[in-house]
Amino acid sequence: MGGQFGGENPMSLGMTDSSVGSQREPIRFLMFSASLRAASLNTRLIRLAAERIEVNGGTVDFALMHDFDVPSFDQDVQEGEGFPAGAEAFCSRLNKTDAFVIASPEYNASFPGALKNLIDWASRYRPQPFNARHGLLLSASPSMVGGNRGLWSLRVPLEHLGARVFPDMFSLAQAQQAFDGDGGLVNAQLADRLDKTIVAFMDLVEADTHYHCAKKAWFEYLGEPPTAETAREQ
Ligand SMILES: Cc1cc2nc3c(=O)[nH]c(=O)nc-3n(C[C@H](O)[C@H](O)[C@H](O)COP(=O)(O)O)c2cc1C
Repeated sequence: MGGQFGGENPMSLGMTDSSVGSQREPIRFLMFSASLRAASLNTRLIRLAAERIEVNGGTVDFALMHDFDVPSFDQDVQEGEGFPAGAEAFCSRLNKTDAFVIASPEYNASFPGALKNLIDWASRYRPQPFNARHGLLLSASPSMVGGNRGLWSLRVPLEHLGARVFPDMFSLAQAQQAFDGDGGLVNAQLADRLDKTIVAFMDLVEADTHYHCAKKAWFEYLGEPPTAETAREQ
């Protein structure tokens, strides 16, 4: 996906990371790892992804799974006591963004129950915060497939809730030996693939978030107001 650069890779045009970022419209991302443990490989991966998003011109709200601690979903609790603080924090922070990025461990060929429980709480809000919001899924695992099966299962509730889950996902295999001392990836090909996946996702979020601005500017340039009839000609 070439996005605003018309199919050309901006790096091949001699642009630096910061020159790419400076041409973007504002886009905001809620980013977190679904692992609770301090030494999490998924938290390392989401930190790297957050750095790459910022380098490429996005704004990051970086969260920890512990920020969204919630009890097991119980409809009686929701209807009696209301939403727990962790669910309130999650929905409030998600609602302030254009998109979300999750790095999730794979547990028993699926994704962690703690994340499913958080999604269940979030699904009870109206408006429902995942609906029409873009999402990118990452995973890291010591296994040879990098926890990718967990991401396929994570797509199911997210897409059920109307999230626009990006078709490409990134799964880091043998993740315990994949990071260098600075938090980057040792393998340059993998680092490039992560970057390309992130930039393609950012291009999509930017286009979808700011399409209406572009349309308004185009009609202003032509001197025509955007009406129902003229809008069809776009
Ligand atoms: C309960 C449990 C189940 C797991 N199941 C899988 C699995 O199905 N596939 C896999 O690749 N790794 C599995 N693992 C290994 C995790 O991928 C590994 O512990 C990983 O480092 C967890 O992510 P984190 O480092 O972000 O906490 C499992 C680990 C636990 C604790």
